[in-house]
Amino acid sequence: MKLLFVTSEANPYAASGGLGDVMGALPAALAENSDNEVSVIMPYYNTVSETYRSKMKKVADISFKLSWRSTGASIFSLVDRGVTYYFIENHRYFSRGRLYGEYDDGERFAFFSAAVVEFMIQTGNYPDVLHANDWQSALSVIYPKTRYKDNEKLSEVKTVFTIHNIEYQGKYGKDALGDLFGIDDEFCGILEQDGCLNLLKGAVICADQVTTVSPNYANELKYPFFAFGLSEVIKSQEHKLTGVINGIDYSYFSPDKGGDIDFSYNKFSRKAGKKKNKLALLADLGLSEFADRPLIVMITRLAKGKGVDLVLHVIEELLSKDVTVVVLGTGEKEYELAFSALETRYKNLRALITFNRVISKKLYASADIFLMPSKSEPCGLAQMISCSYATVPIVRAVGGLYDSIKSYPASDSNGFTFDNYNAHDFLFKIYEALELYKNTAEWDKLTLRAIKSDFTWNKSASKYMEIYSKIQ
Ligand code: GLC
Repeated sequence: MKLLFVTSEANPYAASGGLGDVMGALPAALAENSDNEVSVIMPYYNTVSETYRSKMKKVADISFKLSWRSTGASIFSLVDRGVTYYFIENHRYFSRGRLYGEYDDGERFAFFSAAVVEFMIQTGNYPDVLHANDWQSALSVIYPKTRYKDNEKLSEVKTVFTIHNIEYQGKYGKDALGDLFGIDDEFCGILEQDGCLNLLKGAVICADQVTTVSPNYANELKYPFFAFGLSEVIKSQEHKLTGVINGIDYSYFSPDKGGDIDFSYNKFSRKAGKKKNKLALLADLGLSEFADRPLIVMITRLAKGKGVDLVLHVIEELLSKDVTVVVLGTGEKEYELAFSALETRYKNLRALITFNRVISKKLYASADIFLMPSKSEPCGLAQMISCSYATVPIVRAVGGLYDSIKSYPASDSNGFTFDNYNAHDFLFKIYEALELYKNTAEWDKLTLRAIKSDFTWNKSASKYMEIYSKIQ
């Protein structure tokens, strides 16, 4: 099958979060099947490093009109792990030093999607399935059913749209329909939602199949609490919605093969290996005096959805116990300031207000317990990475966390879960884990089950193949 992924980010070229991880791993997993021809198309941001730039070659120049704008792009490509990556170069839109957060993101990503469609048309390179992700590439699914609906070749391309997080929908005023997106008024109803244009909604309506990143989140999306205004739309399209859980890239996130940590270890040497990493890390952080205490870490975007309010509500109670807590992440200012302020008052807390992959791996390797009390979590990758490093996750049973973590004492448990979005339910779960930590034999069995959890991509890749086959 010929597959084309459309995405605004992919590791290692340009990434800001989980979408980048998924687009860096899923296409390669699908390309392992030699019957597939897999490519990925993304913007050529000026942040892409020279290492990759030097490997690219130019494959096409395209020009086209979008609304009243005459525009165009050069397309570059490189091949990695059996996948062809295409990069759409347009300096006006993508030389901004960052991926998102620009005043004209709507125009930038409408251009991106239009360029993807024009690239197919102008080079005659049509996939069997076009698989777009999140609002930034939503128009690549909407255009074939609207602006380009009379193009026969394009109408044969089947489309899949994946929602990685429904919170971000790409909402614009109605003026944008013609002016930015170049779509006729007759199609307004497809995109319209609550008086605005909503790109994610439009893609959900237009796509042949819709997926999201865990079965439980697919179910949650039918409820207003989780769907950010789109529960009715989701319910009306339920017949074509599937939840497929993400995997993680074990060549990068594993304590024996992933690199970046001080002492590598595997499931057999996990206890000694983690201890050595912990001592090295605590020394680096000036926390050596706490070597014998359990180390609790949180690695997260400091955002409301990640449950930071719960943590802040009970962290002082927690810090009064014999524990060490390290928080790594950046995000909303009020949270960054709150953790930094607490750090000045508690010597058993370190607030590392930065985003750094190497430090994050050292933390996964050194920690005993990992906290992830998300308010909502479409899939979540950190809990899987935590397991891969034999670190016991404590998560709220929501979204993909529910699907991936089974709570102690179940025989297949690989962590702890709590149900309600309640700070003390969370704290008591941490206390339960700390009690078990004292029972070394039981704790070791739990860390073994955690590290043995299977979050490889194979199973999910075959689920996607089933979805693609269904629409052929
Ligand atoms: C988004 C979601 C996260 C998911 C990731 C990859 O970042 O918030 O839960 O793991 O996308 O699909």
